[in-house]
Amino acid sequence: MDTPPDRSPSRYALLPLRLFLGATFVYAGLDKLADPHFLAGVADPASMAAQAHAVAAHSPIGALLDQAVRSPTPAGLAMAFGELAVGFGTLLGLWGRLAALGGALINLTLWLSVSWGVHPYYLGNDLIYLMAWVPLVLAGTPQYSLDELIARHARGTAAGRGRRQVLVDGGIATLAVAGAVLLTGAGVARSRGRTAAPSAGAGTGTGAGTGTGAGTGTGTAVAAVASVPVGGVLRVAAPGSGDPVYLQQPEEGRYTALSGVCTHSGCTVNPPEDGRFVCPCHNSCFDAATGAVLQGPATKALARFGITRTGDQLHLGTETA
Ligand code: FES
Repeated sequence: MDTPPDRSPSRYALLPLRLFLGATFVYAGLDKLADPHFLAGVADPASMAAQAHAVAAHSPIGALLDQAVRSPTPAGLAMAFGELAVGFGTLLGLWGRLAALGGALINLTLWLSVSWGVHPYYLGNDLIYLMAWVPLVLAGTPQYSLDELIARHARGTAAGRGRRQVLVDGGIATLAVAGAVLLTGAGVARSRGRTAAPSAGAGTGTGAGTGTGAGTGTGTAVAAVASVPVGGVLRVAAPGSGDPVYLQQPEEGRYTALSGVCTHSGCTVNPPEDGRFVCPCHNSCFDAATGAVLQGPATKALARFGITRTGDQLHLGTETA
């Protein structure tokens, strides 16, 4: 007796997750290929090699990361094209279970490296992505997919040819998708070569919003002068946005105000230690004096604010960069 077709809404249950993960991985792969810093050597703080180098000592897969540091271009290309293959495979539902397994392995690698130091653990988004892949690894992509079309076609062929037909059709579809992935990736990488600045400075910035002595008091009073001693730091909320801003007085009478919002994905960086701000989400590091990027994945310096002193109050001005 034929099983009646499934008409319950639950048959769509994995579709949103699949579309999200597939599109995100395609985007991530293209983004890496378009980034002029990504494949650079360890000297470029925004490169994958520099990130791997920074976390290798504290990662359980440090030996693998050291290998990536030694061979930045092959490792970076493998990562970018791996993400593209996973993304397209997941979106199209071609070898869907295998694509999901590839996605899970990529996120496992990222969790054990760039997200390994994230505390508490649930802020590490690579662990969340890893868990998100699990349902697709278990279920595959049996619906709305090339896998489904190929299986249906194989069932329609003469008896005994089904399995062979699946392999032939799957192979043809795989070659077509692999060609599309390679052409897309190569096109993006080539356009990167055309648009990259010849001496791109690894996303650094210099200078900090400073104020000295008794200014005119423009801006909003945010703290008493006494609360920011020489060498000290105070976190305040930016008037209007409420975003965190770190006030510092590196030397007598000179104040700086740097945004505490990480320019990578918006996490709040930790208070400065050993001359650097560290972002707890993906370990970007910024110079505590200038906000410049010391280590990616962030590529843009922390925003700076004007700061002046009037009497016993520090006034925060507008964002200057
Ligand atoms: S949000 Fe990713 S490094 Fe800060």
